[in-house]
Amino acid sequence: MGKNVLVVDDDEIVIRSCEAVLGGEGFTVTGVTSSKEAMSLINDHAYDLVITDLIMPTIDGFELIKWINENHQQTRVMAMTGYSSKAVLRDAIALDIIDFLPKPFFPHTLTAAVNKAISTPLKAPAAVSDKEEAETYDKAKFQAILKRYRKVPGALIVVLQETQELIGYLPASVQKVIAKSLKIPVSEVHAVVSFYSYFTMKPMGKYNVRVCLGTACYVKRADEILEKLQETMGVNEGEITQDGMFSLETVRCIGACGLAPVVLVGQDTFGSVNPATANEILKEYQ
Ligand code: FES
Repeated sequence: MGKNVLVVDDDEIVIRSCEAVLGGEGFTVTGVTSSKEAMSLINDHAYDLVITDLIMPTIDGFELIKWINENHQQTRVMAMTGYSSKAVLRDAIALDIIDFLPKPFFPHTLTAAVNKAISTPLKAPAAVSDKEEAETYDKAKFQAILKRYRKVPGALIVVLQETQELIGYLPASVQKVIAKSLKIPVSEVHAVVSFYSYFTMKPMGKYNVRVCLGTACYVKRADEILEKLQETMGVNEGEITQDGMFSLETVRCIGACGLAPVVLVGQDTFGSVNPATANEILKEYQ
């Protein structure tokens, strides 16, 4: 992989943990304990991802993210904090971060979040041409969704859900249309799409396969299930099979821990999956 990750946290233990976990996965990790040091490094080096704590003395993570947004728009930022109150979450979302990681976190959670963040397209919605959306979905149905919720306050999430169900993903051009219809800033739509792992800006296969790597699933060998599926499908996490049939993703807890380990294929849920035979799930869709 060899991607460069900058970790900003006033707690050195967190930095050392990130170095150990991500370093073991092939990332080049640099850690600093203040936003000031981070700004200096970001000015001089290109990072594939900056992971920053939010609550820090002097210049906090919010200020750092705002500075990055203003001065280094091509830098992806992921936030982490041990204080995940609703207000902190809301303020973090408003800053257009790629993801949000509550502390403490498990190694596999960190790795999965970083891999996902790094594969997230950099460009804001306006950067994608309108041509991209042509012929990819039923525009009449999309317009019907927009019409249904145009005057419903707070309908953004449900519009995004229904649109993703229709199109399979949320390309930038579609986000732009949704923002216009709901009369809200494109940046707000983009922030919500980026924040929730349920939403995706990348095209998916006909069937999107999601392996849960949440704690309950992980302790029941979900990592082996992922390996088995990667081997069978011939793709890595975040990729689509050559025939366009399947895409493969990992997710954190989906709230079905009693069924762990869990695999989702589209809207179908498979529980108590045996790692040795996980690939047989795919046969039902071929
Ligand atoms: S950890 Fe997988 S469903 Fe909860």
